[in-house]
Amino acid sequence: MSGPRSRIRLAMVVLAATGLVTLGAVAAWTVAMAQHQHTPSMQGMEKPDWLVKLAPAARTEAIQRQLRGFETTMVEVAYRYTEMYWGGMDGNWEYAAHMHEELGKALALGLERRPVYRKSAEQLFLKGAFVQVGEAIQKKDAALFKERIETLRASCSACHVAEKHAFIKIAVPTVRHNPIEKP
Ligand code: HEC
Repeated sequence: MSGPRSRIRLAMVVLAATGLVTLGAVAAWTVAMAQHQHTPSMQGMEKPDWLVKLAPAARTEAIQRQLRGFETTMVEVAYRYTEMYWGGMDGNWEYAAHMHEELGKALALGLERRPVYRKSAEQLFLKGAFVQVGEAIQKKDAALFKERIETLRASCSACHVAEKHAFIKIAVPTVRHNPIEKP
């Protein structure tokens, strides 16, 4: 009568022991992995030190060089212009407003690096078409937004003409950058 019971008890003890061993193995493995990650050889590459290696006097200039100029500003401006456009077309006004604001920031930072473009930027863009497209976004007015996009892209191109890049004529975007759901 006690035979099956004791076999069950034995099975339970074996199971519990196996569990403990497994737990121990997992713990050991976790510790090993953690230690492993901290060894420099696991990083697969040297710590980048090109900037640190330069003479202190050369570092500021190197940083300036790496920050680049107006061409990288313009890559961001064009990206945000495109996404702002799709935000407005989708009626995703908060997304459009976000892109509008960040476009303004990108341009302001670019002008800090390249103040030579400030006059054209303010006269041809920042004080006119840029503010106006922002108003259309705040009003959530699709028809007005489309009109103001036309004025905006003309302003982008006008500045390119003024700054000897007349070959960069800005069109209405045709392709989306981001996989954004419509609201
Ligand atoms: C200050 C006037 C000014 C305004 C305003 C302006 N741009 Fe530019 N843009 C430039 C200049 C200058 C360059 C060339 C920069 C260089 O090569 O250093 C340029 C270059 C570009 C380029 C080429 C970037 C590359 O890959 O080299 C694109 C794209 C561009 N602009 C898009 C736009 C769009 C879109 C707008 C409006 C939303 C705009 N720009 C507004 C002055 C302006």
